[in-house]
Amino acid sequence: MNLPETTPNTDTLRQMYLDLLKRSLLNLIYFDNELRLIYLQQVIKNKQPIDPGILRDIRYRTQNYADLLSLRTAGRNFSGQIPQFSHSLIGLPRMENIQHCAEIIFKEKIPGDFMETGVWQGGATIFMRALLKVYGEDIDRCVWAADSFEGLPKPQVPQDETYDLSASKFPFLAIGLEAVRDNFRTYNLLDDCVKFLKGWFEETLPNAPIKRLALLRLDGDLYKSTLDALNPLYDKVSPGGFIIIDDYYAFEPCKQAVDEFRASRNIIEPMTEIDWTGVFWRKSY
Ligand SMILES: C[S@@+](CC[C@H](N)C(=O)[O-])C[C@H]1O[C@@H](n2cnc3c(N)ncnc32)[C@H](O)[C@@H]1O
Repeated sequence: MNLPETTPNTDTLRQMYLDLLKRSLLNLIYFDNELRLIYLQQVIKNKQPIDPGILRDIRYRTQNYADLLSLRTAGRNFSGQIPQFSHSLIGLPRMENIQHCAEIIFKEKIPGDFMETGVWQGGATIFMRALLKVYGEDIDRCVWAADSFEGLPKPQVPQDETYDLSASKFPFLAIGLEAVRDNFRTYNLLDDCVKFLKGWFEETLPNAPIKRLALLRLDGDLYKSTLDALNPLYDKVSPGGFIIIDDYYAFEPCKQAVDEFRASRNIIEPMTEIDWTGVFWRKSY
């Protein structure tokens, strides 16, 4: 078949797929349905009748719709509706940052796998798997997804003591391994290239069979979770590889852990801000 001259090139099609995937993972596309569910939860709780008009036109009947959508886009999860129905909490700029780092890694042939410590529903790791696939980079690289799959641990050190985000307080943060595998399946992205490490970081990460990492993304929120990931994994990051910290400004204990780690290891590579919370730096060659 002869394609017309106006057929978009491979890169345009790749970018369109990745763009749609990011929006799907963040539930920006069916955001109205999320608001419908929340509305239904409220009327059931308050024993009110359902208003079919509100249900149909929820976008136009929600006073702060634009604000809620922009909070979701920014990944500001505790200021708006907590996104219990999306596949990632990280917002669009931090998704874009994963793509930015990945494209440099592919272009400069930085060796190693991709990894996230703290995956929740799996969204960021699903996106990593897609990036490897669309750039044909999944022969020598895989994606590691480390999580308890039971939520955050209870605070165990003084630095975390006011941050009890464990399943008893925040059950929506505890997503089981089978549910995460199902999420990968939903996007047709579950295969042997995805490696799950189930358990507390302090137990799973020191002996994980990871050789080299090109991209290490930390999203465990707490001081201890951050150090339990940085300590065993930092030396596995290749020169030219990236370290991304999701919670640097959102959670003071995370910032403290990163600052202490960087000082103790004399890391002088500058940190770059991604958005209101995320930062990253690149290991020098
Ligand atoms: C904020 S969520 C991660 C969000 C996710 N990256 C996304 O794309 O939406 C934090 C995750 O870290 C996990 N976690 C935090 N500390 C942990 C630890 N010490 N060991 C294992 N899992 C941990 C929790 O179970 C939870 O799934």
